[in-house]
Amino acid sequence: MKLGVIILAAGMGKRMHSDLPKVLHPLAGRPLLGHVLDAATCLGAAATVVVYGHGGEQVRAALSTRACAWVEQAQQLGTGHAVMQAMPAVAAMDRVLVLYGDVPLVDANTLHRLIDAAADTSLGILTAMMDDPTGYGRIIRDATGCILRSVEQKDGTPEELAVREANTGFLVADRARLDAWLGRLTNANAQGEYYLTDIIGMAVADGVRVASVHPLTIEEVSGVNDRLQLAALERFHQQRLAADLMRNGVTLADPARIDIRGRLTTGRDCFIDINLICEGEVQLGDGVRIGPNCLIRDSHIGAGTEVFANCVIEGAAVGTGARIGPFARLRPEARLASDTHIGNFVEIKKAGIGVGSKVNHLTYVGDAQIGAGVNVGAGTITCNYDGANKFVTVIGDGAFIGSNTALVAPVTVGAGATIGAGSVISKDAPPGQLTVTRARQATIPGWQRPKKLPKV
Ligand code: UD1
Ligand code: CA
Repeated sequence: MKLGVIILAAGMGKRMHSDLPKVLHPLAGRPLLGHVLDAATCLGAAATVVVYGHGGEQVRAALSTRACAWVEQAQQLGTGHAVMQAMPAVAAMDRVLVLYGDVPLVDANTLHRLIDAAADTSLGILTAMMDDPTGYGRIIRDATGCILRSVEQKDGTPEELAVREANTGFLVADRARLDAWLGRLTNANAQGEYYLTDIIGMAVADGVRVASVHPLTIEEVSGVNDRLQLAALERFHQQRLAADLMRNGVTLADPARIDIRGRLTTGRDCFIDINLICEGEVQLGDGVRIGPNCLIRDSHIGAGTEVFANCVIEGAAVGTGARIGPFARLRPEARLASDTHIGNFVEIKKAGIGVGSKVNHLTYVGDAQIGAGVNVGAGTITCNYDGANKFVTVIGDGAFIGSNTALVAPVTVGAGATIGAGSVISKDAPPGQLTVTRARQATIPGWQRPKKLPKV
């Protein structure tokens, strides 16, 4: 069975009041439409077609890496018209599933159930019981519970509108029969639109049993029309991610105050304090503790490491048993070995820090290779940039860098070397010796402070 997925995304999204097309607004850091495309991928769709609107080139460009076909619907003449535009692109499919680009949390399991429920008939629809179905199409059933048709809000009689079973708009159909039904659609209705939902009545008239399933949650089928709805779905999604973390053995100080925009994988017994934002791929080993207000992006944190409050960690790899922060910044290609200490107001970029080394205060380490057991004093700067090119600083095992040292790269400090505080090191410092560039301290005997001259 070859499945084609058609994603309707031509709507204007006026109520977002945004220059960004609605389906590109992010949820959990990814465009709404990206979530729907992921669901199609989960289903193993053989073809995926996105119907985009006039001016939707921005949407295509933003998702250009996705393996899907794009069809423009220049004028929005209704959901049925939108599907018609996409049918040539799924001509080789057996079945067609219709999804909406602005309904991001649709669950692949629910769609699997829908597809299975319709396996022995030509049409299956996803419907939901709602306390207030205002605005949705209503599902009209006969006395025995068989689906007869779907009626739009604007076309319904008061009795029809009293029905609480809403049409989510998602359906799966036999591709050839869908083609035939679409060919019979008219726009003779209250909105002058070609309603996709009219095919339900047509199927029944053709003697087709219409299968139906319900989603597990209303959020799965909730669309985003404005920024309030977007925020509500974001919170729902984050709560689910937080629950998954806790089920997997993570303690969260407050499950309502974590945001995962990407994928967070965790070991056993991690503790995460409030306001963590994770972006991209983040891995935490066993027993990692994350203090409050941290941002971690595309990084790996080894087992037993503690990250204190207010750290920003991006593209970094941290070994086991390290202590980071508070107020530390690890930038891309920071590679910290086990048992390293990185303290407050320290920035590390494209640098390896060896086992047990400490960079505890007010320091910049960029383009550097620091060995094991090194102590970098407060206020040390690797001067890696001459305004045109970047150069590397190498510090050997066991070196001690005195406070307020400028290491003018390219430069090497030998193993076990000591650098006197306040030095500007622009030539290699030999191993095992003290190197200091500071001017000698002198005390002038008999020196007197100047006295104020008498006023004239
Ligand atoms: C549609 C259904 C309604 C259902 C509701 C669920 C029809 C006629 N009605 O309502 O039964 O309860 O969805 O949300 O199908 N779109 C296009 N091109 C168009 C029109 C719409 O691509 O010409 C896209 C929109 O971008 C959106 C989706 O189709 O992603 C649904 O459109 P929307 O206007 O939100 O749905 P309704 O027509 O109100
Ligand atoms: Ca509408």
